[in-house]
Amino acid sequence: MNKKVLLVGDGAVGSTFANDLLQHTRVDELVICDVVKKRPLGDSMDLEDILPFTGECNIHSGEYSDAKDADVVVITAGVPRKPGESRLDLVNKNVNILKSIIQPVVESGFNGIFLVSANPVDILTTLTQKLSGFPKNKVIGTGTSLDSARLKVDLARRLHVPVAEVNSMVLGEHGDTSFENFDESTVSGKPLKDFAGIDNSVLDQVESGVRKKGGKIIENKGATFYGIAMMLTQIVTAILTNRSIALPLSAPIKGEYGIKNELYLGTPAVVNGAGISQVLETELSETEKAKMLNSASKMQEVLDNIAL
Ligand code: LAC
Repeated sequence: MNKKVLLVGDGAVGSTFANDLLQHTRVDELVICDVVKKRPLGDSMDLEDILPFTGECNIHSGEYSDAKDADVVVITAGVPRKPGESRLDLVNKNVNILKSIIQPVVESGFNGIFLVSANPVDILTTLTQKLSGFPKNKVIGTGTSLDSARLKVDLARRLHVPVAEVNSMVLGEHGDTSFENFDESTVSGKPLKDFAGIDNSVLDQVESGVRKKGGKIIENKGATFYGIAMMLTQIVTAILTNRSIALPLSAPIKGEYGIKNELYLGTPAVVNGAGISQVLETELSETEKAKMLNSASKMQEVLDNIAL
């Protein structure tokens, strides 16, 4: 089977993802689209130079109409955050960009899976499903996968354990109302809260550090891309190889956690060739459930103010 990915948005995130993907998994065709036409031309030539070491792939610049027979359309296109801006500050600009992408992709006859990382990701993922009319399992957002990676690294460093021993997640909005599932988190099978040196003030520090990390990276180097590109790579690899992975994603909520709204929000979910094959409603304490509901109502408030 021919494996084909169409990437929309060839900025720092898009091109880092393209590079990562080719190094992770076999892709037969990678089409790169950007409003700046020359950029994908240069990037596809640049990426071709790694093929002797990754395996053959037909990499070329293209149009949304090339989505017709693609397995996945990855949307990284959007105005990125400037220092001091929140992800929600981007909403109006990026909704318009999204609209200009979804319609021609759907008109091409595309029948694969949409994967969104552009911000605000929970909002844009919800709108991608609405605008495309696609089944909800075939639209995925990177959600809090990146925040969760940041969290695991932070806790592993503090506790001097390998990252793989840390079982802890960031949930809810990929943004200012995100929260950690500290009450259920474990490290090497032992409750996180039982570790020496872990108290509420330390956990507050961890939570705030994780939440602010993206903004700090932007202050220093203008953009964040290695982390998010790796999340996209993991998700696309699971789709193309049809091997299930579970991670926190922006996934379609249908009553989980007592949320009444129909939207996409950060929760663990299983991804494979079918897209999101299962939303995993993880156990949360009452305080954490309240935070999840708060994230949902914040997202709904933003959604209610968007005229499509
Ligand atoms: C970040 C961007 C992807 O958190 O929102 O790095």
